[in-house]
Amino acid sequence: MGKIYQRIFAAVYDGVMKSTEAHLAQNREKLIGALRGTILDVGFGTGANFPFFHKDAQVIAVEPSKPMMQKAVRKYKSLPHVSMYNIGVNDERLDELIKPHSLDAVVCTLVLCTIEDPELALRRFKNWLKPEGKLVIMEHIKSKHRHKGRLQELFNPAWKVIGDGCNLTRETDKLVESLGFVPVEKQYFKRTISFVEGVYSNG
Ligand SMILES: C[S@@+](CC[C@H](N)C(=O)[O-])C[C@H]1O[C@@H](n2cnc3c(N)ncnc32)[C@H](O)[C@@H]1O
Repeated sequence: MGKIYQRIFAAVYDGVMKSTEAHLAQNREKLIGALRGTILDVGFGTGANFPFFHKDAQVIAVEPSKPMMQKAVRKYKSLPHVSMYNIGVNDERLDELIKPHSLDAVVCTLVLCTIEDPELALRRFKNWLKPEGKLVIMEHIKSKHRHKGRLQELFNPAWKVIGDGCNLTRETDKLVESLGFVPVEKQYFKRTISFVEGVYSNG
């Protein structure tokens, strides 16, 4: 997506998400608050997860969009337990920072819909997570209702432009489990569209 559009997207993101976030905040708190150790926050955007990380955790937060990162930096000036990096999660340079089997948790919220190659990202998470590590997700997914799913497919090309690469049609719940992550707790819920949230063990 072009740099100008990235700037527009970052400028309007928090405003557009305000009413949805009023509901999602409680899901974030429940999923994230109990995590400790070294945590990767994938595509942190404007930092919606930051208030929920425990102060004793060490959070590596990555985000490839500079305008989104700048908003997060402005909002959360000094969070000693959160280190922000302007990099995408599939960028090989990240392997210099994150060693295999070093992470206690990987957190993906509203991001596996957008990452260009989510399968590659999930394989990288598997390698970075400790054997007892956890993958935590909160993601919107394609409707399991046939007609709604078809509508989402039709609307997806336009949505992808509006949403800076976001897809309405990903079946992230299926993808995660097909790669060997095992649900410890998982639930589906609706906020206009369908969501899955869950904590998964590293298989
Ligand atoms: C809808 S926002 C969600 C932000 C945040 N995680 C949240 O829960 O509000 C999706 C974010 O994913 C980021 N993103 C896109 N491709 C990515 C990649 N390859 N690696 C990491 N983040 C990526 C986008 O720049 C955007 O900030």
